[in-house]
Amino acid sequence: MSRVAVIGSGYVGLTTAVGLAKLGHEIIATDLDQTRVDILSSGVCPIVEQGMPAILQECTEAGQLQFTTNNLLAIRDAEFIFLCLPTPQRVDGRADLSAITTVLKELNGAIPNEARLVMKSTVPIGTGSKIQKDFSHAGFHYVSNPEFLREGRALHDFFSPDRIVIGANDDESAARLEQLYAGLGARFIRTDVTSAEAIKYASNAFLATKISFINEMATLCEALDANIDHVSMGMGLDTRIGESFLRPGPGWGGSCFPKDSKALLAIAEDCGKTFEVLKSAIYANEIHQNRIVERIVAQLGGEVLNQRIAVLGLTFKAGTDDIRDSPALKIAMELHGRGAQIAAYDPALNERLELSIWGQIENCPTPQIAAVGASMILILTEWPEFASLAPAEFAALVCRQNVFDARNILPRTMWIEAGFVLASIGFA
Ligand code: UGA
Repeated sequence: MSRVAVIGSGYVGLTTAVGLAKLGHEIIATDLDQTRVDILSSGVCPIVEQGMPAILQECTEAGQLQFTTNNLLAIRDAEFIFLCLPTPQRVDGRADLSAITTVLKELNGAIPNEARLVMKSTVPIGTGSKIQKDFSHAGFHYVSNPEFLREGRALHDFFSPDRIVIGANDDESAARLEQLYAGLGARFIRTDVTSAEAIKYASNAFLATKISFINEMATLCEALDANIDHVSMGMGLDTRIGESFLRPGPGWGGSCFPKDSKALLAIAEDCGKTFEVLKSAIYANEIHQNRIVERIVAQLGGEVLNQRIAVLGLTFKAGTDDIRDSPALKIAMELHGRGAQIAAYDPALNERLELSIWGQIENCPTPQIAAVGASMILILTEWPEFASLAPAEFAALVCRQNVFDARNILPRTMWIEAGFVLASIGFA
C-alpha cells in the first residue's frame, strides 16, 4: 500500500485516483474547485463514466480516497505525486502548460524527499527534461507515465491497459511505479522520460490518422460503389493493421485528438521538422466534416433554410457527455448557421439545461419529439439506442423521409424498406 497524491480531479485525475484507491492505495486527490471537491468528498461522481460512481462511493466511504483543495496538504506524506492537470490548446496550436507551471511553483520545496513526481498530463516532448533541470536537487525523481484512457471507458482502460508506459531516467523510480500498479498484471514498457512523452503523442496522432484514412477510403467507396464496412473489416482482420479505429464516421474529435495532433505538429515545427502525414490527417478530418454537411444539404434539395432536422447525438462519441470539439456539434451548428432548424436529442445532454447550445438548438426529450415535422433524421453520435429505433414509427412523424446516418449504425434495409432515402458514410 502506498500513499499517493493526485493533483487535478478531472477525468484523468479522477480515474487515476479511483483506480489506485481500488488497488488498495491511500489516495488524496485535489482540485481547485471547492464545489467539485465537496461533491467528490460526499462520494458522488460528477462525470459520466461507466462504473465510476460505485467505486468512487466505495473508496470514499472506506476512507481510502479523500479530496481536498489543498495541494500542499495532499503531498505532505506522499510517496507518489501524480500531476493530472489540463494542457489545453493555445491559439497557436501548442499545449498550454500554465496549470502545470503554477502547480510546480506551488509544490517547489514541499515535495517530500524521495517522492516520485509522476506526470500523467500530456505534455510536449521534452517537458520532463526541462522540469528535471529546474528541480535538479538530490532526492527529486521525475517519471513520465502517460495515460491512454478513453472517455466513457476510462476505468475499464485503467484496470485492463494494453500497456503501461513508464519513462524514468533512474531504475528505482521505474521499479517503484511498476510496484504501484502491480495489482493490474499489466505489461510495462520502460523507457526514458522523453520517449515516454513521444509515445503518448505518437499514439493519439496515429489513431487519428487511422480514422482519417478510413474516412477518406469511405469517400472513395461512395464514388466507386464499394462497401466500406466490408473494406474496413477486410483490412482490419490483417493483424498488422488491426480492426479498431477503422469505423468511418463524422470525423474525429473530443478533448484529445484535435489538441494533441496539432500540438505534435507544433513540436515538429519547433525542432525544424515537418510531419506531412499528420498535417494531411488533420486537413482530411476538416474537409470530411465539410463534405458531410454538403451531402446533407444536397439530400435536402440544396437548401436547408427553415427545414427542421432531427439531430440524434451531439456528444463527440457515445458513452460520454463531452461536447468538446465534437464533430456532431460542429455539423449541427453549421446546418443551424445555414438556416436549418435543429431539433436534437442526446441521451447524455438531455438534462444538462445549463449548456449554451440550447440557445440555438432545440433540446428534445426523445428522438420521436425531435423527428416531428422533420425533413431529415441525422444520426451523429453512435449511441446504441439509435440502432434499434423503429423506422415505421418515424415514417409517421417526419414530414420528409430522409435519414442520414453519419455513424453507419442503422439497419440499412429496414429503413429503406420503410420508405426512407438513406445516406451513410462510405455507401453510394
Ligand atoms: C483518446 C484515446 O483513444 C485515448 O487512448 C487517450 O488516452 C485519450 O484520447 C487522451 O489522450 O486523453 P478519447 O478522446 O476518449 O480517447 O476518444 P476515442 O474513443 O479515442 O475517440 C476519439 C474520436 O475518434 C471520437 O470522435 C470518435 O468518434 C472517433 N472515432 C474513433 C472514429 O470516428 N472511428 C473509430 O473507429 C474510432
